[in-house]
Amino acid sequence: MTGPRVHLETFGCQMNELDSELVAGALGALGYRFVRDAGEADVILYNTCSVRERAEQKVWSRLGMLKETKAQRPDLVVGVLGCMAERDGATLMDRHPVVDVMCGPAELDKLPALIDNAVRTRRSMLDTDPAHAAGRSARSVALQGSASRRSSTLGAIGDSLEMLDLSRAISPIDANARKSAYVRITRGCNKFCTYCVVPHTRGAEVHRPPDHIVDECKRLADAGVIEVTLLGQTVNHYRFEHGSAVTIDGVVQPQKGRTYKGSHHRDAFAGAQTTTFADLLARIHDEVPAIERLRFVTSYPRDFGDDVLEVIRDHPRLCRYLHVPAQSGSDRMLKLMNRGYTVGEYYEFLDRARAILDQPEIGRPLMISGDVIVGFCTETDEDFELTKQMLIRSRSKNQFIFKYSPRPGTHAYDKIADDVPESVKRARNNELLALQSTISDEIAREQIGSTFGVLVEGLSRAEKKKRGIDVKPGTGMVDITIGGRSSAFGGSQGAPSVSGGPTTTALQPVAHAQGSSVQLSGRTDTDLIVHFEVPTAGGRAPDDWIGCIVPVRITEATGLSLFGETV
Ligand code: 5AD
Ligand code: SF4
Repeated sequence: MTGPRVHLETFGCQMNELDSELVAGALGALGYRFVRDAGEADVILYNTCSVRERAEQKVWSRLGMLKETKAQRPDLVVGVLGCMAERDGATLMDRHPVVDVMCGPAELDKLPALIDNAVRTRRSMLDTDPAHAAGRSARSVALQGSASRRSSTLGAIGDSLEMLDLSRAISPIDANARKSAYVRITRGCNKFCTYCVVPHTRGAEVHRPPDHIVDECKRLADAGVIEVTLLGQTVNHYRFEHGSAVTIDGVVQPQKGRTYKGSHHRDAFAGAQTTTFADLLARIHDEVPAIERLRFVTSYPRDFGDDVLEVIRDHPRLCRYLHVPAQSGSDRMLKLMNRGYTVGEYYEFLDRARAILDQPEIGRPLMISGDVIVGFCTETDEDFELTKQMLIRSRSKNQFIFKYSPRPGTHAYDKIADDVPESVKRARNNELLALQSTISDEIAREQIGSTFGVLVEGLSRAEKKKRGIDVKPGTGMVDITIGGRSSAFGGSQGAPSVSGGPTTTALQPVAHAQGSSVQLSGRTDTDLIVHFEVPTAGGRAPDDWIGCIVPVRITEATGLSLFGETV
């Protein structure tokens, strides 16, 4: 007998994409199969995002549409996972009786059992009492709730959620299909920026043990992955304490740990050692040489020590790309946002990073990207002017620009009036996009003549359009505005993604290639998107380029796009 069919759709950030992949792997191990078409599914899962309202609205509308489907298909199981489930809790189920299972991001290890249980219960209800099964509910909920913020040390070892990452299904699939993967190093966030739901939905910061992370990277590399992106909400805040004794259920758990090449830091208490973020980067770099590109997102400006920057400088496979959101150029706004730094300190960080890492003479320029929120509570024209200056001074390759969206449960929602009119938010958003696109354009033109290794992802957007292939928004180097997130100059954060299965970060194979040449696109290690033409006749087939790192010399920068030729 074949297992139930699952349709899994993911909204929001890379962390959500990784969560979906892990959930899919766990369900796959239980015999579930994945389908792209929701109409064919026995189980529909939405992995949701609460960071901005637009992402939530999409899920509300999906759930609304399921009402009718569920009336016709009472055996259908609908699950809402992720931040929206955690934040909305029972309200979501009241508003949408179609939802059978809810599971917060800090409880995802329980999800496979919840789904399995819901599927079985539905089926047995239908077997025993089909006439009334549709109206009856067999609902399962796994939410962290506000009471349980866990400590980072206990969480790292005793947390059963760690099992979800540890049990990651990694198999040597089609070598072309999987060259790039995410690896979580830290869960949750302790920063409590006043506008942000993440600390409320994902819980306290928990750092994963370095041995687990290195092992995961090794297993991915063995399966053919050559590019790993380490994930954490404040990824450069990573720090793992070794040798400390913690108590789980009253039992003292001594911890064995390793530190890298004697660069460990002795802590105040006896026997304790620490693996810092710099140690972790160096360990992965040296212990997993098959990973040709190692990068990380998202960095917190205040947490960058010189040690991390020097490790990047001294390890060639560490990418010279930093995603470091400033959020605003006004100290008053930064204070109101509880960001914990001034714009002067942000500039100090940028200058330091560039002094240590920028080596344009050897073709390794540092690329910076960031996030900005416009129209945060009480933002004046003067504050906004300062943000414009910040963009000019930062000279980042791209900025993700968001209009402030008040999120229930956050400090700002409860305590600070959302008093900037929508029309002003929109105007500021557009103004920043235009400003950033001139900066991005300039940076793009500076790349002409340089040669970069480009990890080929597939057909370029233009090529897909030409061939009538569905273009997923946010994957090309064009202006995008999706889910409230606007970006000039492409970038790795992309758009809300839709996935039909566990290959959320898979590279796309070239389909229907025809004609004498085909335009492919890929990324440099600094996250610049590059397009280049390859011949279709003779030599290498277009598919064979995918997943390879190809040297490409940049010949043209048109608008926001880089074009080049293989060398
Ligand atoms: N409104 C608008 N943007 C937000 N972000 C986080 N919370 C909000 C909000 N309430 C943005 C920040 C963050 C990015 C992931 O999302 O810029 O860096
Ligand atoms: Fe949210 Fe601030 Fe934590 Fe980033 S650092 S996840 S913006 S609270």
